[in-house]
Amino acid sequence: MKIEPKETIDKQGNRILIREGKISDSKELQKCVKSYLKSKQIPLTESEFNELAENHEEWIRKFIDGKNDLLLIAEHEGAIIGNVDLMINGRQMLKHTGYIGMGIHADWQGKGIGTAMLKVLIDWVDHNPDIEILWLQAFSNNVKGLRLYSNMEFEETGRQKGFIKTESGEYVDNVIMTRNKQQTVNRILRPNQVS
Ligand SMILES: CC(C)(COP(=O)(O)OP(=O)(O)OC[C@H]1O[C@@H](n2cnc3c(N)ncnc32)[C@H](O)[C@@H]1OP(=O)(O)O)[C@@H](O)C(=O)NCCC(=O)NCCS
Repeated sequence: MKIEPKETIDKQGNRILIREGKISDSKELQKCVKSYLKSKQIPLTESEFNELAENHEEWIRKFIDGKNDLLLIAEHEGAIIGNVDLMINGRQMLKHTGYIGMGIHADWQGKGIGTAMLKVLIDWVDHNPDIEILWLQAFSNNVKGLRLYSNMEFEETGRQKGFIKTESGEYVDNVIMTRNKQQTVNRILRPNQVS
């Protein structure tokens, strides 16, 4: 086990357990993902997800087996209500970097659960010398997501204008956000120094 289960309380006083994902979570986790895909802020349609879900247990297995990969689940009274996943790049020159994906069940968004989950993941990463850079991609209209990531010291490091074409035909910018551990440490230790 990489992380001890951690209990937290959301903004409405609900008890939430944050723990590592396991193979037997697959069916419940799929329900949760389908719920947050409806927010249309991830470039994956429900039918594409259904195809991927045929190999969902293998997808979970990669996080369990990978030394530096991590899948976290948020659970309330036995129901899965969110996940954050970190997948480390397998290539030699990129294996200090990890890509983050996440989502919170539609009924549970905006209650601080995404913040609590990402904090647990970042705390683990900050104690892991193998991982130096975290990055992710977000739709430019993803207000909650962008706020969450900048709160967690991710910086916008790229923007692909009009890159995403939504199912309704609207073009949205793809924002690349990066959290570089060394730069974060420098900012905290030397806040007035321009890097
Ligand atoms: C994006 C997402 C992961 C954020 O998780 P969450 O649990 O909903 O977010 P939190 O409640 O922790 O809030 C994060 C920040 O957004 C703010 N926020 C919450 N609801 C908001 C709203 N309706 N409008 C603006 N800001 C909002 C919060 O106040 C918080 O900022 P603060 O701590 O500075 O006050 C979640 O909303 C989600 O799953 N969305 C759909 C799927 C998705 O976008 N996945 C990520 C793809 S990159």
